[in-house]
Amino acid sequence: MKRKEETRRRTAVVTGAATGIGAAVSERLAGQGTRLVLVARDGARLEAAAERLRAEHGVQVSTLALDLSHQGAPSRLAEWLAGAGIEVDVLVNNAGASLMGPIAGSDPGRLRGLVDLNAGAVAELTALLLPAMVARGRGAVVNIASTGAYAPAPYVAAYAASKAFVLSFTQAVWAETRATGVRVVAVSPGPTDTAMNTRRMPGKRTPDAVADTVMSALRSRGPAVVDGPLNAFQTFVFGRLLPASAAARIAERSLRRAATGY
Ligand SMILES: NC(=O)c1ccc[n+]([C@@H]2O[C@H](COP(=O)([O-])OP(=O)(O)OC[C@H]3O[C@@H](n4cnc5c(N)ncnc54)[C@H](OP(=O)(O)O)[C@@H]3O)[C@@H](O)[C@H]2O)c1
Repeated sequence: MKRKEETRRRTAVVTGAATGIGAAVSERLAGQGTRLVLVARDGARLEAAAERLRAEHGVQVSTLALDLSHQGAPSRLAEWLAGAGIEVDVLVNNAGASLMGPIAGSDPGRLRGLVDLNAGAVAELTALLLPAMVARGRGAVVNIASTGAYAPAPYVAAYAASKAFVLSFTQAVWAETRATGVRVVAVSPGPTDTAMNTRRMPGKRTPDAVADTVMSALRSRGPAVVDGPLNAFQTFVFGRLLPASAAARIAERSLRRAATGY
């Protein structure tokens, strides 16, 4: 009987799971009894997070230290999962990085690494793990985008563009998989209080609030969810009401000082 219950337990892979939003989502999933595979670069930090989750929730947690911006890393993760005999029910593509500053003057290699992580790894991991979910007729893929996905964002141009990729990609895959029993959704946080965003700003959300939105997005039906009413309003204005040129000019003025000091 116990064995049967065990085999019915879900397994989730969460990338960028030791800190910020990924840690909060992992906590929610562990609280539901979901087994976890945590992925990020810093293996010691991951193992510490895993130990906390095991102690608090009594769930099985594995860790894999991997730089997902490296070519072949998503395949290595899929091979590791297959080798360990792990069927993935939920994939949370959360790992991400940001770079602030004008593109003229940015390190081209770091820009490329950002796109490879924020967009490339998300597409590759989805393509690697989705087929088994579709074959089983159940499962979920949550891709963490950003409110920056909805309009061009000067001084975080590559970041916002990579998140626009995540949003568009996820909306398309949602439509492809609607009749399969697999839930595919993009969740877009706005400014959230994590290591990635230490700037002081009004209306900043907590990782726990974003994790609540992720959990309710898993239960809902649409292709994309924005975290928090203020962020939803902002994406409506900047993404739908304003032409892209006006949105970019307004954002340029509001981000210039933070990005350049002028
Ligand atoms: N904070 C915000 O204001 C905000 C707003 C909108 C969207 N988001 C999105 O939310 C997601 C989570 O970010 P966060 O705010 O929670 O920031 P965070 O605490 O810095 O988390 C980022 C996570 O990604 C992992 N990571 C970074 N580079 C990686 C790589 N190359 N390979 C594998 N893992 C990597 C980091 O762990 P290691 O360093 O150990 O690899 C870390 O656990 C990101 O996709 C971000 O774009 C954040």
